Amino acid sequence: MKKIIIGNWKMYGDPAMAAALAQSIVKNTAGKANNAQVVICPPAILLPHVAPHLSGSTIKLGGQDCHIQPDGAYTGDISALMLKQAGCTHVLVGHSERRKFHHEQDIDVRHKAARAVKTGLIPVICIGESEEERKAGKTKDILAQQIRECIPEEAIQGDFILAYEPVWAIGSGKTPTMGDISDIHAYIISLAARRTGMDSASIPVIYGGSVKADNAREIMAAEAVSGVLVGGASLKAEEFCRIVAAAT
Ligand code: PGA
Repeated sequence: MKKIIIGNWKMYGDPAMAAALAQSIVKNTAGKANNAQVVICPPAILLPHVAPHLSGSTIKLGGQDCHIQPDGAYTGDISALMLKQAGCTHVLVGHSERRKFHHEQDIDVRHKAARAVKTGLIPVICIGESEEERKAGKTKDILAQQIRECIPEEAIQGDFILAYEPVWAIGSGKTPTMGDISDIHAYIISLAARRTGMDSASIPVIYGGSVKADNAREIMAAEAVSGVLVGGASLKAEEFCRIVAAAT
């Protein structure tokens, strides 16, 4: 399986920056990203400024969220089909910032993932424990619940990616030990295999939370890690390209 490297730009950027960053990533990874599937997820309104620069490259485009319904009176929301028509192949669902600031629950995440699959997008289903949950020794219980609730029937035997993002590691500069990452990924894979009936080797679980050029190689080399989900470091072309290079 190729390593999966996803850049989540969050709510950063403008048209000029988006175009320049996309061009720079394409240029600096050309011919070097053979062992990696790179996906970049700009804010929805910047997708048309990024998409033209990715055509002809191996780099794919993703959305940061989608609505559970195909369309409707949902002011401010974006549908999975709109993302697809803008050139996306992937969409993040259940990112901890969506859970925190938009009060998304596991059931919403499941419906979003289902809508993505029905629309022909690959959902990147984000799960992970908070600092309090970790301190209370509940990490594995929380992950088990999220895996049970967030993977929709539609995704079973299909294409989906799980992203393990401990909430306390996002944007904090803190990461779990490599041993903990491998242990938790193996646990996630075994539960997801049981839940879906899929072969564990076909369930990609990527790690996210303070991934930088300096730690990407070690993280991606860890047992049971299929790639990385990168926030802050995906906004700097040079740093992001070093992360892509670390997969090869
Ligand atoms: P970070 O964010 O790399 O800035 O920690 C990761 C994420 O939120 O996906």
